[in-house]
Amino acid sequence: MLSPYIFPVSNWSIIVAAGKSERFGDALPKQFQKICGKPLLSWTIEKLEQASSIDKIVVVVAEEYQLLTTQSVVDPCRFHKVAKVVSGGDTRQESVYNGLKALPESAGLVAIHDGVRPLVNSEDIDKVVHLAEENSAAILAVPVSDTVKKVKGARIETTLNREEIWLAQTPQVFEYNLIFEAHRKLAEGKPGSKAPTDDAGLVEQMGVKVTIVEPSSLNLKVTTPDDLSYVESVLQGVTHG
Ligand code: CTP
Ligand code: MG
Repeated sequence: MLSPYIFPVSNWSIIVAAGKSERFGDALPKQFQKICGKPLLSWTIEKLEQASSIDKIVVVVAEEYQLLTTQSVVDPCRFHKVAKVVSGGDTRQESVYNGLKALPESAGLVAIHDGVRPLVNSEDIDKVVHLAEENSAAILAVPVSDTVKKVKGARIETTLNREEIWLAQTPQVFEYNLIFEAHRKLAEGKPGSKAPTDDAGLVEQMGVKVTIVEPSSLNLKVTTPDDLSYVESVLQGVTHG
């Protein structure tokens, strides 16, 4: 007899924060740098907590930062959606795959987000999730404002059509089975084969059309100390405004 109980499908977020912050150039990785008294990563998790379309969160950090993450990020902020803190890998792609492997089969959509994008708007997260609900895959992206040149060495080969060029950001949201399969194939594929630099690129290779939507505000990825200062000035406005 079929069970009358239907497991509820839940939407998960994987927040990847296992990078080494080489371009940031400080012994403490950028995701743990304090902004207005709280680690950067806490601000990012808060945005996912506030997004009503997200039910649960997995945070991916380097093994040596697991304890710090639990003690200084998750516990003090009482994040109730954070279900797991798992270890990342040497590349971002491995970190995402570790996050995916930590999800239950009942996962519906998965919103993969960079732990160092704390300015993401929670309503934008909901918007991308709802688009992925309709179309299997959706991401935040921005159109370029500068003229884009294709260059070889120090010489321009051609000027690209700016209207067709967008910069991919996160969150990137996919049906769980789709993105898990894409990562599994890549992880089990030929070593050294060229991998796309984002998760959307992987599902594009499978022939899936990914929907894009523009963020309503600047969704900066912190790379350098100057970026951190900028984010602090924005969040100070939020805190004191
Ligand atoms: N990331 C990760 N695991 C890795 C590499 C990156 O989880 N092995 C995460 C980073 O922590 C970050 C996001 O992916 O939240 C985007 O990566 P990036 O901004 O490039 O961060 P880092 O790789 O840490 O910085 P850098 O490239 O300067 O070393
Ligand atoms: Mg990197």
